[in-house]
Parts: sequence; C-alpha cells; structure tokens
Amino acid sequence: MSLFEPVRHGRLDLPNRLVMAPMTRSRAGLDGVPTPSMATYYAQRASAGLILTEGTQPSPQGQGHPMTPGIHTDEQVAGWRAVTDAVHAAGGRIFLQIQHAGRVGHPSVHGLTPVAPSAVRADGQIFTPEGPKDLVEPRALTTAEVPDVVREFVRAAERGIEAGFDGVELHGAMGFLLHQFLAANSNRRTDAYGGPVENRIRFAVEVVEAVAAAIGADRVGLRISPGRELNDIAEGDSIALYTALLDALAPLGLAHLHLAASDDEELNDKIRANWPGTLVVNPLNSFPQPPADAGLENAERWLERGADLIAFGRGFLANPDLVARFRTGAPLNEINPEGLYGGGDEGYTDYPALAAPPLDPPAGPAGDPVA
Ligand SMILES: Cc1cc2nc3c(=O)[nH]c(=O)nc-3n(C[C@H](O)[C@H](O)[C@H](O)COP(=O)(O)O)c2cc1C
Repeated sequence: MSLFEPVRHGRLDLPNRLVMAPMTRSRAGLDGVPTPSMATYYAQRASAGLILTEGTQPSPQGQGHPMTPGIHTDEQVAGWRAVTDAVHAAGGRIFLQIQHAGRVGHPSVHGLTPVAPSAVRADGQIFTPEGPKDLVEPRALTTAEVPDVVREFVRAAERGIEAGFDGVELHGAMGFLLHQFLAANSNRRTDAYGGPVENRIRFAVEVVEAVAAAIGADRVGLRISPGRELNDIAEGDSIALYTALLDALAPLGLAHLHLAASDDEELNDKIRANWPGTLVVNPLNSFPQPPADAGLENAERWLERGADLIAFGRGFLANPDLVARFRTGAPLNEINPEGLYGGGDEGYTDYPALAAPPLDPPAGPAGDPVA
C-alpha cells in the first residue's frame, strides 16, 4: 500500500493517506478566536488527505497553553468558519481536535482552578502569559459534575459542525483530561469513574459515545498515546487499559482511532489487532529534531504493519506541500524553532511551497527552437 492511494474515511473520500497531525501553534486571539492567519496556514496545507487542527478547548476551563483557540463562543465559531471555508475552497478536508487540558491548565491562563479526575498535581511546568510556571494542584470533579464536562465535549462537537468542520477528533492522548481519567496515577477516584480499568475508561467512553450520538460516529475520531508518560502520566497496566477501551469503542463505527505510537511494540501491535476500524498512526519519530525525511521511512514501515493512514506533524508544519514533496522526492524545509509556539506569521505561514512548474516552456532567443 502507498501513502498516495486514496482511502475512505467515515463520510469522506481522502485523496491520499497523509494526515496533518494536530499541532498547537498559539496564534488565536486572547479570546480564543481563530485569526485570518490561521485560515491561511491551514489552507496552505489542504493537500493533506485530512487535516487535524490544533487542540481546541471546549470551555474556558479546558484551555491549556495561552493563545489556543476555543470552540465555545459564537465568535470562535465564526473564526473557525473562515478556516474551514478556506480549507474547503483549497480542496481540503479538516477535523477539529477537541482538547480539554484538565490539570495541565493554569489559573494564569484561564483565571480558574483547573479540574481533573483527582486533586493530583502533575509534575511539570506550563507556559503562561507571565512565563513558565509550575502546574498547580487541580480540583477533583465531583461525580455530579462529570456529565457537565461530557456535555461540554458534545456542545463543542456540535459547534464544530456548525463551524463547517468535516468532523472532530477527541484528544485522549498526551496526558490531557481524557487521559487523566484513563491513567492510574492521575485518577484516584473511588466512584464509578475510578479504580479498576472498567471504571477508568468510563469517562472517555461516555464522551466518545455522547459525541458520536450527537454528530454521527463516522465524523468522530479519538487520539490515544498509550504507554507515553507525557505530562506526568503513568497508566498502570497499559495493555489491560487499552484492550478494555478499544473493546468498548469498537462497536461504535468511529471515523478513526489515532495512535500516537508507543515505544512498546507489543502495545502498538495489540492496538492494531484490537481495532477493527480505520487506524491513523503517528509513528514515534525522534524529538525535538525530527528525522531528515520527516518520518517517511517510519511511515512506510507502519503502512506495512497495518496502519491505514499516517499522521505527520513537523513534516506538515515546515512543508505546506508535504504531499507533493514526498511524491516527487523533493527536499524538505527545515523547522524554524522561533515560531513554533506563538508569534506572528514568521515561522507559521511563511514556509515556502515548491515553485509551481512554469505553464509554458521558456522561450528561446528569437528564431531558435527551444531544445
Ligand atoms: C508544535 C507542536 C504542537 C503540538 N500540539 C499538539 C496538539 O495540540 N494536540 C496533539 O494531539 N498533539 C500535538 N502535538 C504532537 C503532534 O501531533 C505529533 O504527535 C508530534 O509532532 C510527533 O509527530 P511528528 O514526528 O510527525 O512531528 C504537537 C507537536 C508539535 C511539534
């Protein structure tokens, strides 16, 4: 199978199997409203089979980093509408990634005490408008509050559809709220949402089911990062955890499961074996410096191992025309570390695409045939 073969994805026909991975770029307004530059940035990358947007908060309390976009006000919906229109006009397809940061949020960013499954502080820091700060102890959601947070995801997904998105991806990875419920070290609850694996998967399953019921399972994806300890996550028995999660989700008919691959190959293989639907894989590439080929070789290996689509993050960040570059073997742009998280258009919309070939052959000197 090749990256350039078309594939069916939920309600969409994708022209190729390259997915732009979700990447927070912190270019929204302070009010979380997407800016015109964001429309330009995403439209430049419309040749991806599917674009997954940066993590987007479903509520003020769901925000993580500063300047990330939201999808909980009418102004934010209108801002996103300009983005989806630009991507569709450029021939692309785009899903909104919904991210609730939970305990990886900060009062200096959203003015609220972060909420989480349990009052367990994540060891680590976060960027705030006043510079990097230690993460704080979150407040544990009460059992009665949990359905309200499920509804925040549902409302965000509905607003996403209203904003013109082709679907949504729920962020269950990288130590954010859904992952905090899944993992044993961040979820110390004693109610139906904590304790054994069947309980720790409950919140994620309820969110996925509720969002699927609201907008259609074939417009919903879920991202997971099994076995990765990002944002101070320690899952416990990852194989038991994800086996239970996938068993519960498999019958729903989701558009995709998005696996941010683990360095535990047994776990990766289990996920592929236990997921009957479309699997997007984001291979584990070197960090912070990406491989020189932006992960192409790892991608091809994963296609042979049963991935249906491959997500590329930094490859698309630095190469708006990554698909054409891979297709033709053209060299790749280097990442500009200056504009990675926040800033203006520099390091954002100014990565060059390959020069389009001239429409007509250059004219030779008068009378000379062009050789
Ligand atoms: C600048 C930047 C921002 C990111 N933000 C997000 C995010 O908002 N949501 C998410 O799920 N992953 C996020 N990631 C992780 C990427 O989706 C991807 O997993 C990572 O870049 C590895 O893929 P790559 O090797 O192709 O770059 C981010 C990565 C980068 C480099």
